[in-house]
Amino acid sequence: MFNKKTIEDIDLDSKRVLVRVDFNVPLEDGRVADDTRIRAALPTIKYLVDHRAIVILCSHLGRPKGQVKAELSLRPVAEHLSELLGVPIAFADDCVGDPAEDAVRDLQPGQIVLLENTRFHAGEKANDPEFARALASLAEVYVNDAFGSAHRAHASTEGVARYLPAVAGYLMEKEIRYLGDALLDPEHPFVAIMGGAKISDKIDVVKRMLQIADHLLVGGGLANTFLAARGFDLAESLVEEDALPTAREILQTATDRLVLPVDLVVADEFSDDASVRSVPVDDVPAGWRALDIGGKTVDLFKEKLQGAKLIVWNGPMGVFEMGPFAVGTYAIAQAVAETDAVSIIGGGDSAAAIRKAGLTDKISHVSTGGGASLEFMEGKTLPGVAALLDKDS
Ligand code: 3PG
Repeated sequence: MFNKKTIEDIDLDSKRVLVRVDFNVPLEDGRVADDTRIRAALPTIKYLVDHRAIVILCSHLGRPKGQVKAELSLRPVAEHLSELLGVPIAFADDCVGDPAEDAVRDLQPGQIVLLENTRFHAGEKANDPEFARALASLAEVYVNDAFGSAHRAHASTEGVARYLPAVAGYLMEKEIRYLGDALLDPEHPFVAIMGGAKISDKIDVVKRMLQIADHLLVGGGLANTFLAARGFDLAESLVEEDALPTAREILQTATDRLVLPVDLVVADEFSDDASVRSVPVDDVPAGWRALDIGGKTVDLFKEKLQGAKLIVWNGPMGVFEMGPFAVGTYAIAQAVAETDAVSIIGGGDSAAAIRKAGLTDKISHVSTGGGASLEFMEGKTLPGVAALLDKDS
């Protein structure tokens, strides 16, 4: 249930509004390589502009560890945003202090500034009250539209909300409504699909999905650990040894809801031009490694997806960045897109796979959150959301 105040519940006219967005986007050669997250913030930015707010955008980019790193400057993002909106976007070389204050002072209602990377200050990650107060002092209202960062209790995502009236933007609202409503009272049959490299990040989601989904289809490195826990010898495949006891525990309590691969695409080396073959899970050759799910597994997963009313997918089925090992992920993407189910994709990699396959339009909701959507699916309260004003306050 989404019960937070939003930009529609607060007076914005001529107000200085600090907006936390998640512009943590990939850059290549100093240009934005994927602008999905920037586009996702446009409805909020446009609404603020239309309501004559003075719009002060802030975000992190990458993990500069409290240092100024030129290659992690948000300046290229300001240029890209300016192209998308067709208006000039001012840029402040620092997110606090004189550069930020001067840039804000120069703005008229309806104009926009983007502040430099908040993580150039150690106080951001440490959620330092002084730093949060310095950020907050730029504005009269705080809007959090950074769903992708809402699992971080940092100064710009949580700390500032202590000093300013704090409301949600449209993206934040949409993400929480989709994921929250879907998981609170899921429509059945509900099929969850989980993949990705590591089981340790996903144990809690796996447990929760086993409680609420009718089937949990598992692929990727995650599946390797379960298969190894079941006793299969996966040779050189990525298996998280430390997670084996937990995987065994889950297998003991899991019913046939947990669906593991029956075959795997294996390679003799971790490379694009490795020798590749498809083998049953009990026949991985010594020295080889699993890098994708096999064709029989794709068919099995497709069968489980038939008739689903709700599908939630997080994590690729293999190393989909490498051509020979992308088949399983794209086949599952296609299968999800072809169902009539409400489909929700969470996690940076599965969202990228859906985009690369050109299937975004066929999915009900592609989340902009990676870690945030995972934590939300675990049932955790996200600090960036908890800090916002309640609807009835
Ligand atoms: C993300 O890309 O998941 C968010 O922007 C959060 O980034 P972080 O994992 O570096 O905090």
